[in-house]
Amino acid sequence: MKIKQQFLFFTALLILVIGCKTNEVEPKKPAITLRNVYEDAFYIGTAINKFQIDESDSVMAGIVGREFSSITAENEMKSMQIHPTKDSFNYEYPDKFVALGEKYNMFIHGHTLVWHSQLSSWIRSIKDSTEMAEALKNHIQTIVGRYKGRVNSWDVVNEALNEDGTLRQSVFLNTMGEDYLALAFKWTSETDPKADLYYNDYNMANAEKRKGAIKMVKNIIDKGIKVDGIGMQGHWHLNTPSLEDIEQSILDYSALGVKVAITELDISVLPNPDELVGADIAQNFQNSEVMNPYTKGLPDSIQVKLANRYKDIFKIFLKHKDKISRVTFWGVSDGQSWLNGFPVRGRTNYPLLFDRQLKPKSAYDSIIALKLREDKQLTK
Ligand code: G3I
Repeated sequence: MKIKQQFLFFTALLILVIGCKTNEVEPKKPAITLRNVYEDAFYIGTAINKFQIDESDSVMAGIVGREFSSITAENEMKSMQIHPTKDSFNYEYPDKFVALGEKYNMFIHGHTLVWHSQLSSWIRSIKDSTEMAEALKNHIQTIVGRYKGRVNSWDVVNEALNEDGTLRQSVFLNTMGEDYLALAFKWTSETDPKADLYYNDYNMANAEKRKGAIKMVKNIIDKGIKVDGIGMQGHWHLNTPSLEDIEQSILDYSALGVKVAITELDISVLPNPDELVGADIAQNFQNSEVMNPYTKGLPDSIQVKLANRYKDIFKIFLKHKDKISRVTFWGVSDGQSWLNGFPVRGRTNYPLLFDRQLKPKSAYDSIIALKLREDKQLTK
C-alpha cells in the first residue's frame, strides 16, 4: 500500500514537471488583434462615447479593450461638457474615461482644451482679452492639472485654421489675438510638462492649410514654447485626399521636428455634397437616394474599395512609422459614427472597421494582413 502511494506520488510529480516544461518551451502567441499586430509601429486608438466608457455592452467593451492601445473621449472632455459654467466642472465621464484607459493599459489622449466649437456659452460670451486669458488659463490648469501624469497627450488647440491657412476668426483670436495659441501651449506644458502637446485639425493634407499649420506651429516653437506634435484628423473619403498629399503632409509636418498623429480617422463611402456645384442644395440632401444609396447594406464592390483605401493609407503610415506616434479611428463601429449625421442627417455610412453588428469588416482584415505581410518580409 505504501509503495503504491509512493508510486502515485512520483507519477503525479513527473506529470507536473513535464507539464511545466511543455509550457516553458511553447509560450502562448499573442492574439491577432490590431493592438498586438501594430504594437511595434504606433499606437492604434479609437474614440469612445459615453456608452462605451460605461462598458454597458460587453461585446463592444471586449473590442475596445482587445483591439486598441489608445483611447480618446469623443465628446466628454470638450469645454461644453467638462466646464459648462465658470465655476462648475463635470468630471463624471472624464474620470471614468481615464480609469478605463488605465484598466486596459492604454495611451490616453485628451480632446480638447481650446476649440471654438462645443464651447461653453460663458466662454463664448467673453469680450475682454484679460478676461479671456484668465478663463483659458484656469480651464487648462484645472483640467490638465486634474489628470496630470495620467492623460498622456492633449489636443491643446483644435481647428484654429481656415482652409486657406489663415487663422480662424474665433472668439479666442478676436479677444486675445494670435497670442492665445502660444499661451495655450505654454500653460499646458507648465501644468503637465510630461504630457505630449498637439495642434489638431481637419483637412491637414490640403496644401494651403498645411502651409498655414506649419507657419503657426513654427511661430510657437520659435518662441521657445513646446509643441510635441501635429494631429491630422483624417476625416477622409474613398478618393480624396490623394495618397501623395497624405504622404507629403506627414513628411512636411515631421520636418518641423514634431511627431505626427492621425487623430480622427474614418473614411466616408457616401457622396460628398461639397463636391456638388450650386446654391442652397443642402435641404434636398436628406431624403435623396443619390445622397444615401446604401441603406440596405454596403455592396461588395464598395466594401472592397474601402478595404483597399484603408490598406493604401496604412501602407503610407507603416512606411513612415518612425514619424507617426498614433493612429486613432473616430469610433469603433459604423453604427456609432458621427458620419451618419454629417454633412447630411440620417444617412447610413460605413466608415469604420467594425460593422453595425460589431463584426470586423474587410477593411479590418486588410490592415491586419498588410502588417503581418510586412513583418514576414522583414524576417525573411
Ligand atoms: O449631449 C447631447 C445629449 O444630451 C443629447 O441627448 C443628444 C441629442 O442629439 O445630443 C448630445 O450632444 C451631441 C454630442 O455629439 C454627443 O452625442 C451633439 O448634439 C453633437 O453635436 C455632438 O457631435 C459631436 C461633434 O464632434 C461636435 O462636438 C460628434 O459626436 C463628434 O464625433 C464630433 O467630433 C469632432 C471632433 O471633436 C473634432 N473634429 C471633428 C469631429 C467630427 O465633427
